Amino acid sequence: LSALALTTSLAAAQESDANKTWTEVRIGSEGAYPPFNMLDASGKLNGFDIDIANALCDQMKVKCTFVTQDWDGIIPALQNNRFDAIMSGMSITPEREKQVLFTNKYFNTPGAVAVPKDSTIADTSAASLAGKTIGAQASTTHSQAAEKFFPDADVRVYPTAEEYKLDIANGRLDAVTDDIVVLGPWLESAEGACCKLLGTLPMDESVYGKGLGIAVRQGDTKLKKMFDDAITAIRADGTYKKIQDKYFKF
Ligand code: ARG
Repeated sequence: LSALALTTSLAAAQESDANKTWTEVRIGSEGAYPPFNMLDASGKLNGFDIDIANALCDQMKVKCTFVTQDWDGIIPALQNNRFDAIMSGMSITPEREKQVLFTNKYFNTPGAVAVPKDSTIADTSAASLAGKTIGAQASTTHSQAAEKFFPDADVRVYPTAEEYKLDIANGRLDAVTDDIVVLGPWLESAEGACCKLLGTLPMDESVYGKGLGIAVRQGDTKLKKMFDDAITAIRADGTYKKIQDKYFKF
């Protein structure tokens, strides 16, 4: 194939994608980020993201199928066509917007810090965290927030949230940071009995982006529009609130 022919056929592929009639949408999610996405005993994805996805797909009159994918590599997997959309508690950030197209936000919540119950760390100020170890999931807004808000802390990053939770429970971390709605249910569970909430962090858009969005490939403008219209519709008809109340208490 000549370079020109290749470029032309690539353009054609993108064109047809943009106008594609969607009957099935494959959704990629980590399955290790409760309560947004997790696996049940049989390995099936469930959680807030999955319930919202199903409600959106009902609206869009398409069939939703789900694919489990490690967080690290979730954007390349979308680009490599392993699935058509990411719903994995992913924040809309400028760096990611260079690689994917985001829908309007479907959720937003502040970051927070948890510490061992016997911790003497006083508050979430930079001074209080100076010289302390703080864990966060790698390649997230939370690891970036830890670097920005706690410049004198030792930020340790983990491939999954599960791993920082284990490390703080085993006394290997002074603090951890994640969404308040992620830390809250963990702290109330047996696994989080080690720890307590220290406080929330400012909702700084330059760190956390613009809330959680659904990521699609950059050419899939039609799919983005379908999702955006469906988000508006499930908010208007009460479906969104039912799902929100099922997973998050405010
Ligand atoms: N909202 C944060 C971010 O986008 C954390 C997302 C983590 N998602 C996950 N499936 N582990 O960076």
